[in-house]
Amino acid sequence: MSNNLPDFPETAQLQTFLEVATKAAHAGGKVLQSYWGNLKSVQEKRPGDLVTEADKASEAAIIPILQQHFPDHAILTEESGKLGNQDSEFVWAIDPLDGTTNFAHQYPVFAVSVAVLVGGVPQAGAIYAPFYQELFQGARGLGATCNGEPLKVSPTSELSKSLLVTGFAYDRRQTTDTNYPEFCHLTHLTQGVRRSGSAALDLAYVAAGRLDGYWERGLSLWDIAAGIIMVEEAGGKITDYQGNPVNLSSGRILASNGLLHASISNALEEVRQERFAAFVQAATNIPASRA
Ligand code: IPD
Ligand code: CA
Ligand code: CA
Repeated sequence: MSNNLPDFPETAQLQTFLEVATKAAHAGGKVLQSYWGNLKSVQEKRPGDLVTEADKASEAAIIPILQQHFPDHAILTEESGKLGNQDSEFVWAIDPLDGTTNFAHQYPVFAVSVAVLVGGVPQAGAIYAPFYQELFQGARGLGATCNGEPLKVSPTSELSKSLLVTGFAYDRRQTTDTNYPEFCHLTHLTQGVRRSGSAALDLAYVAAGRLDGYWERGLSLWDIAAGIIMVEEAGGKITDYQGNPVNLSSGRILASNGLLHASISNALEEVRQERFAAFVQAATNIPASRA
C-alpha cells in the first residue's frame, strides 16, 4: 500500500470471510445450545452485567476457528479482549453470547455475533440465533440474508406507524445518560419501542424489516459490527444520533430503514435539547410513597 489506506477485500475474499464467520457463529451457537437451561455459573462483571460459563465456552469454540483460518489477523472478543496481531488491518469482533441476561433467565432472545472489520470498517459477518435457528449473514456489496433468503428493510415511512427497538447500557445506574427519556419520547411517537436484550439481533431485525429502527448508546464493537453490515446491505442506514457517519468507538448508533432516519434522529435531538428534562426530573423524583 502506498497511501496507507487499507485494500478493501475482493468478492472472493469477502466470501471466505463470510464462510469463516458463519462457521464460527455456528460453533458458538452449538455450545450455547448445550448450556441452554443448564447453567451452573452466572457471575456479575459489574452491576447488572452478567457473564456465564456459556459465554466463555462459546468464545473458546470460536477463537481457534478464526486463528486457524487467519493467523495474522487481530481478534477482539468480549470476554478475552485483544488477541492476535494488533498491527493487522483485519480485526475480528466477536460477541460469543449477545443477550447474556436473557440467556441466564432462559428468555430465548440471544445470538452469537462474528464480524471482520478492514481498516475499521465492518466488511462481513454472521449472527446466529440458536433458539430460533436463524442465521443472518452479510458482506459488503454482496447483500444480507436470513437462512439464505435476502433481507430487505421495511417500507414504513411514518414514525407514528413504526416499531422501534432500543437497549439500556450496563452503566445506566452510574450515568444520567440513561436512554430512559429517549425511550419515553419515542414510545409516545411510535407504535412501540421494544427492548430485546440483544443488540446484534436488534440490528438483524431492522435488516429483516421486522423492526423499523434501532438506537442505543454504550455499545461495544462486538455488539454491532456484524449487524451494521446487515442493515446497510438490506438497504437501511447507519449513523450517529445526529445523522452523521458513525464513529464505532463512540458506542452510539442509530439504525433505520432509511425512510425514518431523520424522524428518529429529530426525536432523539428533541430529548437531547432537554425538551423532556422536566418530565425526566419529575419521573426520577417521585417520592417513594407514590412510586
Ligand atoms: C448487551 C445486549 C443488550 C444491550 C447491551 C449489550 P451482552 O450485550 O446486546 O441488548 O442493550 O448494551 O451490552 O452483554 O448481552 O453481550
Ligand atoms: Ca453484547
Ligand atoms: Ca456478550
